Amino acid sequence: MRVAVTGATGFIGRALVRELAGRGDEVVALTRDPESAGSRLPAGVDAMRWAAPKAEAPPIEALAGSDGVVNLLGEAIDQRWTDGARREIRDSRVLGTRNLLEGLRAAEPRPRVLVSQSAIGYYGARGDEAVDEAAQPGPGDDFLAQLVVEWEAEARRAEDLGVRVALTRTGVVLSADGGALARMLPPFKAGVGGPVAGGRQYVPWVDLDDVVGALLFCLDDDRAGGPLNVTAPEPVTNKELSKALGRVLRRPAVMPVPAFALRLLYGEMSSVVTTGARAVPRRLQELGYRFRRPDLEDSVRAATGRN
Ligand SMILES: NC(=O)c1ccc[n+]([C@@H]2O[C@H](COP(=O)([O-])OP(=O)(O)OC[C@H]3O[C@@H](n4cnc5c(N)ncnc54)[C@H](OP(=O)(O)O)[C@@H]3O)[C@@H](O)[C@H]2O)c1
Repeated sequence: MRVAVTGATGFIGRALVRELAGRGDEVVALTRDPESAGSRLPAGVDAMRWAAPKAEAPPIEALAGSDGVVNLLGEAIDQRWTDGARREIRDSRVLGTRNLLEGLRAAEPRPRVLVSQSAIGYYGARGDEAVDEAAQPGPGDDFLAQLVVEWEAEARRAEDLGVRVALTRTGVVLSADGGALARMLPPFKAGVGGPVAGGRQYVPWVDLDDVVGALLFCLDDDRAGGPLNVTAPEPVTNKELSKALGRVLRRPAVMPVPAFALRLLYGEMSSVVTTGARAVPRRLQELGYRFRRPDLEDSVRAATGRN
């Protein structure tokens, strides 16, 4: 299979490309900077320049003749949401996906499938309610929820071109290589970690191995279309995640972190950790996807190198 990947140089992209290359697929990485991408990608991956995803379509030769496309690019979300940052977080995804579609429209032969990344932020803050893919998006004043609605709508237009579209609504990714845990671990290692903002909010966690597993599943399985929650089968509360971290690291995990402290540090972006949704992977389970790491403590052990 030949697969074009945007955002291939990122945290999720690198893990995906490693597995695609490992199983013998041909990978074309679309990147703003192919020179530096080379050192971050496995040998044999073809890095092609897409200099301005917000402003232009990607090079057609990356898409024409590819069997599938995985769309992962986007400005980092875990930064203070100034007006400029909000614009870049939104536009990189919404305009980047719109321009990817222009490329798909022109590509001949056209890829059969577009796996377009999405996020659990779609659902907004949901308390205890279990949310599957049929749930409505978060409210209109929720920046992330509205961004995800727009981002998914751009990707779905590929269906009009006869392309199967899978929207991978990904949760909070646990891995030793970075992501959410990189920020959480230092206080826990120092013995001053604990539940955030009361700890009752749900964390729709997922192991990086399953993010990659689900992306491959969506590429390969013709039944995978529309939105799919990419989250572990059993979401936990923030308090339960804190406890698991404490147990695995053998450190106390009882120091509460108040919401206002995070809001002072990170502004509105802190809502990403102070609120949450109890998302469940109904579609993946219906389709028979077998989770590689469904157990939280197992995932935390792997992600902290304590296994
Ligand atoms: N990590 C998570 O926990 C998580 C959870 C849910 C959803 N997601 C989503 O999954 C996608 C991949 O996540 P990730 O953690 O792998 O992201 P990442 O490490 O930040 O990588 C994203 C890639 O996108 C490109 N990029 C970054 N800023 C850009 C900009 N302003 N304009 C155009 N391209 C830009 C970069 O590629 P080049 O520099 O090579 O062009 C970068 O390597 C993102 O859309 C993210 O929102 C992530």
